[in-house]
Amino acid sequence: MANIIDGKAVSAQVKEDIRLETEKLKEQGIEIGLAVVIVGNDPASQVYVRNKEKACETVGFNSYKYALPEETTEEELLALVDKLNKDDKVDGILVQLPLPKHLDDKVIINNILPEKDVDAFHPVNVGKIMIGEYSFLPCTPAGVMELIKSTGTEIAGKNCVVIGRSNIVGKPQAMLLLHQNGTVTICHSKTKDLKKVCSEADILVVAVGKPKIIDADYIKEGAVVIDVGMDRDENGKLCGDVDFESCKEKAGFITPVPGGVGPMTIAMLMKNTLTAAKMHKGLLAEAPKDEPDTKERTAWNKVMLHT
Ligand code: GUN
Repeated sequence: MANIIDGKAVSAQVKEDIRLETEKLKEQGIEIGLAVVIVGNDPASQVYVRNKEKACETVGFNSYKYALPEETTEEELLALVDKLNKDDKVDGILVQLPLPKHLDDKVIINNILPEKDVDAFHPVNVGKIMIGEYSFLPCTPAGVMELIKSTGTEIAGKNCVVIGRSNIVGKPQAMLLLHQNGTVTICHSKTKDLKKVCSEADILVVAVGKPKIIDADYIKEGAVVIDVGMDRDENGKLCGDVDFESCKEKAGFITPVPGGVGPMTIAMLMKNTLTAAKMHKGLLAEAPKDEPDTKERTAWNKVMLHT
């Protein structure tokens, strides 16, 4: 029987650390603000936005919610983004996705100042993640990394398999595992013999969006299995991409759905907002780095170049 990774407990700890730091900043007269913009009436988005507001309250941030009608034009939304970019009280800006069909996510995201882009969706932030010199990490992959860390599992040298290649989860997830010296494989819908690739994974991150497609046959005995999926089963019950009941017998560690990755995403959003505020207020000279052994890697690259 696997150890169940308690995402709620890990996220509570991350938020508590942030709350303590925020409290100290408040004593110096520094307040932190997150603006959350929602356009239209998507029920799931409304729940997510409410949870983000609640998390702000928990850690002591000011949250500024902008709920705009479905028929909001691109011009109107860009005007709001511009206003928030210039607003000193706003350290982080999050525009909840998906936007209504007539609005282009990319245009809106590209107009958020990279230093306020706490989702890490802006191309500048995506590029920084590639080179390991990031200001913000995308919230879900960063949450997954915290969960892996909570198991005490060393990533360096391990076979890490990520199923899914989205810009928001799969690709940055692979990059974060690579920065920790994992040997990383990204699988997707065209991957041949997915079962074989997965069954060699010491760490398996599943982000597909299909209910219970990964069962025990895909899992290596003792593997760390992280389920990013948030799906509904045939009875409409919330479940993940991983068949938890079958895999929990074989995995070493496994996340449940709900209560695994989900709570971590919001905790990492709070962490990014704190980082944004510290950069904004001049308390953080340099962005954090995610390269444990740059020297060793540079030496290896030189060998590769000369042979
Ligand atoms: N919609 C679902 N998840 C997210 C997220 O992490 N950020 C934004 N901006 N929208 C979302």
